[in-house]
Amino acid sequence: MWKSIQPAPPDSILGLTEEFKKDQNPQKVNLGVGVYKDEAGNTPVLRCVKAAEKILLEKQTTKSYLPISGDPAYAAAVQRLIFGSDGEVISSNRAATIHAPGGTGALRVGADLLHKFTPNVKVWVSSPTWANHNGIFGTAGFEITQYAYYNSESRDLDFDKMMADFETVPAGDIVVLHTCCHNPSGVDLVGEQWEKVATLAAAKGWIPFLDFAYQGFGDGVDEDRFAVEQFARAGCDFLVASSFSKNFGLYNERTGAISVITQNADEASVALSHLKTVVRTNYSNPPAHGGLVATMILDTPELHAMWLEELSDMRDRIVNMRKALVAGLAAQGVAGDFSFIEKQRGMFSFSGWSDEVVMSLRKNNNIYVVGGGRINLAGLTTTNIEYVCAAVASAMG
Ligand code: LMR
Repeated sequence: MWKSIQPAPPDSILGLTEEFKKDQNPQKVNLGVGVYKDEAGNTPVLRCVKAAEKILLEKQTTKSYLPISGDPAYAAAVQRLIFGSDGEVISSNRAATIHAPGGTGALRVGADLLHKFTPNVKVWVSSPTWANHNGIFGTAGFEITQYAYYNSESRDLDFDKMMADFETVPAGDIVVLHTCCHNPSGVDLVGEQWEKVATLAAAKGWIPFLDFAYQGFGDGVDEDRFAVEQFARAGCDFLVASSFSKNFGLYNERTGAISVITQNADEASVALSHLKTVVRTNYSNPPAHGGLVATMILDTPELHAMWLEELSDMRDRIVNMRKALVAGLAAQGVAGDFSFIEKQRGMFSFSGWSDEVVMSLRKNNNIYVVGGGRINLAGLTTTNIEYVCAAVASAMG
């Protein structure tokens, strides 16, 4: 069977990590995959996670299956985090939330659910977007189209163009939005821009699908849910794919959730029943460990406080690296105004480096950047930043 089948291309992000791992050069720097690194270049297990795991190890009595939708306590904790504990969505009981294997799994479960009922609508993604959005919604069977988002000249959001595109979205189409820390650009909507989009979505009847993978990496856990609150207030039917990969560092525990927000509790239970069918026919039920850890942290005041502190340290370190990069590029005499890097939010920045610069950095300096010039600021440290800035200076000539 396989003699005539060509290999698939490597993944544009995770494939780069495979290349990086093979690289023997001790000076190599990975600015590719969106994984947090500390000042020593490690991706640590958070202290709150270690503490929760210790308790779990002692107290856990079974490894039997979770329910198809995961642990109800996990779903409740996720809802408090993404809607806020006093959120109307929670008091009205109008959302169905289930544990999904990571943010990617959440997006895919949501995509499969929507495709079951509206296979002929289009999915709108931002230009540009996380490459895997195309893969996920395409594989689920949807036709994908783009809406204007990033203006590479102003290096900012093209709000007017985006709204003009949104005016053309027909009722029932699905619009994927990055709730905060846009991947790959680091450029977010702010304040009343979100209000306008949510109002338009409700008026037009399209289905917003919020990708909420970086809660806490923008301005803070509470601040970052602003977009979710706007869609809830506008009364839209919408979905939220959330993840604990980044904010709890639970990357390999595949700990995410898909929430389907409906008009009332009856509709939410219908949505839940169909979510369960999607899961049962795919992976049956979710992996338990990460969800148990996240629930314990969120539901235990001391661990919750420890988590918020650790998260704020991660966020601050990235902000400091943004500043250091701008200063470092200027110190190396790299032409251009790079102050936009400091304005962007989250792990990523669209550096503006051309594909030639990206290739030169990889070949000549063992610095790995995703095609298109997306850099993960968390890959920078006070130790490697000068090396990186000097390499950029020489690659940009
Ligand atoms: C990224 O964009 O680097 C992360 O979301 C990891 C991934 O799965 O691509």
